[in-house]
Amino acid sequence: MLGMAVLGCGRIGRLHAHNLARHAHVRLAAVYDLAPQAAAQCAAELGVRAAGSLEEIWADPAVHGVLIATSTDTHVALITAAVQAGKAVLCEKPVDLDLGRAQSCWREIAGAHPTVMLGFNRRFDPSFRALRERLHGGEIGRLELAIITSRDPQPPPAGYLRICGGLFRDMTIHDFDMARYLAGDIAAVQAVGANLVDPAIGALGDIDTCAITLRARSGALVQINNSRRSVYGYDQRLEVFGAGGMLQAGNRCATTVEASSAAHTAARDPVLDFFIERYTEAYRAELDAFVAAVEAGRPVSPDFADGVAALELAVAAGESLATGRTVEIGAAPR
Ligand SMILES: NC(=O)c1ccc[n+]([C@@H]2O[C@H](COP(=O)([O-])OP(=O)(O)OC[C@H]3O[C@@H](n4cnc5c(N)ncnc54)[C@H](O)[C@@H]3O)[C@@H](O)[C@H]2O)c1
Repeated sequence: MLGMAVLGCGRIGRLHAHNLARHAHVRLAAVYDLAPQAAAQCAAELGVRAAGSLEEIWADPAVHGVLIATSTDTHVALITAAVQAGKAVLCEKPVDLDLGRAQSCWREIAGAHPTVMLGFNRRFDPSFRALRERLHGGEIGRLELAIITSRDPQPPPAGYLRICGGLFRDMTIHDFDMARYLAGDIAAVQAVGANLVDPAIGALGDIDTCAITLRARSGALVQINNSRRSVYGYDQRLEVFGAGGMLQAGNRCATTVEASSAAHTAARDPVLDFFIERYTEAYRAELDAFVAAVEAGRPVSPDFADGVAALELAVAAGESLATGRTVEIGAAPR
């Protein structure tokens, strides 16, 4: 059994804690949150210990790994401390808010050959994974175009918006990773963005709507579009196109029932509302992959370098938005 602890018992930490508590190969040893009541509530739900401090977790030999689901600005410090304590890490996206800090974190911990996996859960969605396998299996020939549509049902809470690092680092980061997952290394980024959803987001100096074009080193083009608001639910679609055709992965509804009437044709249930419902299987498969890799001593994927590469694209998108220019991405080893 792999002993695990969860750090951060907010929206996503609680979900992971519940999944870990049910995992056949895991013993959830403890949960921890800076806000003691958040940890106490999660611990009570699962019948596990709420740790009183991080030191308690680092010192516990029965904790082999930690799942970091705290606010993004704490990730690098917690990854470093966990690795120094000899723990394997599964860290939520993004790896950090600051690219330089993420890169120096890796320089500091790399010598320990640590296990650090990044929580890019969409790679584990069964439909997205199948689409990629068929693309890479050659079914539509060489990839020429990919379209990634990713629109949240509503903006996150104001407190979260203030500290999340902005649209590109917080939300588009998933799509930058998906672009790399489908098209490989990215060579150039061109971004436009707007504040169309909520003036309060603009007041924070952030955008809530964007259209981004990426050029992959392979020559393929990738388009990403994001909105912080989608009235019909959590809109998550992929399309890839090549000389041999097109592969698409669409939205998910609660049922497949379709209704036709005088008012509508083939009307379906609303699209599943948000990440917890839409990516239920993906979060479980992500944990399965982490646990299996740690048990077998195999490398994890996506790893720290994937986290840094996605963050690099988020930073480049910010630069492109600010300057109106296309930003080239260096091919230097990360
Ligand atoms: N992969 C996904 O689908 C997904 C979805 C949501 C959030 N996230 C990521 O997960 C992280 C958390 O997001 P959230 O929506 O759950 O946020 P949240 O605000 O709901 O929860 C964060 C929790 O971390 C705690 N915390 C903050 N600093 C801490 C520290 N130093 N030590 C211990 N606890 C600390 C807070 O008290 C809070 O309970 C973010 O990095 C976010 O980008 C990923």
